[in-house]
Amino acid sequence: MSATVPAVNYWPQNSCAKAFWGQHELPPYQQLLQDTISWLDLQPGQRWLDLGCGGGQLTRALWQTTEGGLEEIVGSDCAAANAYAFEKLRSRVEPWSGDRIRFVVSDFSTGLPFAEDDCFDGVVSGLAIQYAESYSPETGRWTTNAYDAVLKEVCRVLRPGGQFAFSVNIPEPSWLKVAALSVFGFFGARSPGRYLHKAYAMWRYGGWLKTQARKGRFHYLPRPLVVKKLQAAGFVQIERRRSFAGQAYLFRCRKPE
Ligand SMILES: C[S@@+](CC[C@H](N)C(=O)[O-])C[C@H]1O[C@@H](n2cnc3c(N)ncnc32)[C@H](O)[C@@H]1O
Repeated sequence: MSATVPAVNYWPQNSCAKAFWGQHELPPYQQLLQDTISWLDLQPGQRWLDLGCGGGQLTRALWQTTEGGLEEIVGSDCAAANAYAFEKLRSRVEPWSGDRIRFVVSDFSTGLPFAEDDCFDGVVSGLAIQYAESYSPETGRWTTNAYDAVLKEVCRVLRPGGQFAFSVNIPEPSWLKVAALSVFGFFGARSPGRYLHKAYAMWRYGGWLKTQARKGRFHYLPRPLVVKKLQAAGFVQIERRRSFAGQAYLFRCRKPE
């Protein structure tokens, strides 16, 4: 049986958020970013949600790929520190975004902060929804209820025919494989010392994430189970591939027309 009192969740903390701001420098993450963007059906004038957006790497890529053609991108994350990263992103992206890129602090384990149904053309999420957490005090166990609920919420806020593309880690991911491929990034890094520092910080959080996943708090689920959950949430046209040094599944699917 798991601990009766849930242990601390580091994700909302500033130090954890900031540690992952450097993730985009890792070659395996670059591969994941490119694979994700290449799988999206982006059209000018659309509204997209970046769920568990962190420092906004996917948001930036959405904006740049469409050359600022989207009507709006909303980044949402439980860590308030990411508001600062979004301020910086907004001031640097080209073309200028104004308020068309915005950030909302929100914990997706308790739902999505959008009352309106069918309000997004697309939802993207990078290595985030697997951290939806729900604890049952009655049984003293972690459950997948919040994970299942996030999928249903995403389906609710998508317009009919809208696309959902997201990545999640495979069961028992090997951070060693990710680290091995990240060695190449060290040689190309603008500041190798900073690169090593960030990589080490992420590595340390990686240990915590794996321990919590083994307890059932976080969800590195087998591919067929994710497919089953997507179907149960109402998604169709489910496709998947591997990315992130083989340590993540990338899924894409749609809300039925
Ligand atoms: C591995 S990082 C990925 C960040 C970003 N998607 C990217 O691709 O760079 C996971 C993100 O999920 C966010 N997250 C974890 N649990 C969350 C929750 N319950 N609600 C909202 N965001 C959450 C974290 O704060 C973090 O920014």
